[in-house]
Amino acid sequence: MLFKKSIPQLLAEANESGEGTLQRSLTSFNLVALGVGAIIGAGLFSLTGIAAADNAGPAVILSFIIAAIGCGFAGLCYAEFASMIPVAGSAYTYSYATMGEFMAWIIGWDLVLEYALGAATVAASWSQYFSQFLSEFGIHFPQQLLHGPWEGGLINLPAIVIVCLLSMLLIRGTKDSSTVNNVLVIVKVAVVLIFIALGWSFIDPANHTPFIPANAGEEAVKAGTKGFFEFFASEDFGHFGISGVLRGAGVVFFAFIGFDAVSTAAQEAKNPQKGMPIGIIGSLIVCTLLYVLFSYVMTGLENYTKFAGDAKPVATAFAQTGYTFLNRFLMVAILAGYTSVILVMLLGQSRVFYSMSKDGLLPKIFSDLHKKNQTPWKTNLMFMVFVSIFAGFVPVSDLGHMVSIGTLFAFSLVCIGVLILRKTDPDLVRPFRTPLVPLVPILGIIVCVLMMASLPIVSWERLGIWMALGVAIYYAYGRKHSHIRKEYHDSQK
Ligand code: ALA
Repeated sequence: MLFKKSIPQLLAEANESGEGTLQRSLTSFNLVALGVGAIIGAGLFSLTGIAAADNAGPAVILSFIIAAIGCGFAGLCYAEFASMIPVAGSAYTYSYATMGEFMAWIIGWDLVLEYALGAATVAASWSQYFSQFLSEFGIHFPQQLLHGPWEGGLINLPAIVIVCLLSMLLIRGTKDSSTVNNVLVIVKVAVVLIFIALGWSFIDPANHTPFIPANAGEEAVKAGTKGFFEFFASEDFGHFGISGVLRGAGVVFFAFIGFDAVSTAAQEAKNPQKGMPIGIIGSLIVCTLLYVLFSYVMTGLENYTKFAGDAKPVATAFAQTGYTFLNRFLMVAILAGYTSVILVMLLGQSRVFYSMSKDGLLPKIFSDLHKKNQTPWKTNLMFMVFVSIFAGFVPVSDLGHMVSIGTLFAFSLVCIGVLILRKTDPDLVRPFRTPLVPLVPILGIIVCVLMMASLPIVSWERLGIWMALGVAIYYAYGRKHSHIRKEYHDSQK
């Protein structure tokens, strides 16, 4: 039997108020800021250069557009759910209402990869910019304390410190965190705009030609001297040409991760029916516009080949403007950008576990709220430790791939959920409807699965291990303590 939550039951839970419940304090503006807060970060400031140098050349702009379209499909599906079921658990809760408890658990467990490991990935990169910022003042942070043991160091200390500080802020309260986030978002959007505005007049059109650098393998396939599968399996695939633009989209996908974090705050939104679609779609649109302009200016300022192996490509490009006195501001703003991503990811993670615990699938400790601050502080503390361990010791690229694969898996399930619920409950009130169903969800699933396929096989293996662990925990604990199952069995007595 499929144990599902009914939508009216979910809505009743969402409308509970008083002690032990989350406070409704976020406006539509806060929600867009929350989305932008979670979205613009390491993906834009670090991966644009990598994707341009290794995969797409100046056509990284197209990679951003392709990734945005893929996320747009998933975003529209998220918006339908988030406005219909505005509770804290995001994709986890939507699955509970559509595909039953087991799938809900799977997705909730999977979201740890997106949120907790997402926070760890960005924290680990944060420390690299932090040490560069210090070196501007002649302070050289010991390399041993900037990298974990698999990267030739001991520990990534600044990454751990920033995770701990932000966890403390979250424990203080969502409102305080949201205020800090708004400031960080303003700073980082300002730097993106300044970069675009100041850089625009220094663009050298020669840097944009060829727009899509040639790919020898693709040329050979066109000329009929190489088979497609031979090319697909070769090193040429994904290195410039159309295949490079597509692989580039898989790389910069990371830059869009986070728009769904808006939906984890649905239970804290003042008017979620209106605010959720605005928050999700609005933040996605704002970021796409900024990304396209940013990557256009960046690849116009400096030749894409110069970004190869460059840890600070934005500064390299900006140097062409001659406004080098702004370098320090640039670094601070980029650090602010990373910080807000970590903050929102940590927030999203705690809200997912809060919901899972409320349903009995996890111990009650995860939904205990702080008496004064009304935040799930024990969950925050637990994830402070968990995220710190990953940020402090695991290499950034391994973390990044796990985040991407976990997120794409979650996006696919949300798209499937929309298809299912339209069939099983066609008459439910949907304040926002995904357009062109079933086309949009199906395209969403296809794009997500294609992007998953472009990730290294080891990420699939790790995803398998993580999921197997999750299934074991579900059978050992969640299934036995599930409130829905309990209610059902009590009603049968
Ligand atoms: N989208 C977030 C970033 O790029 C995860 O940092």
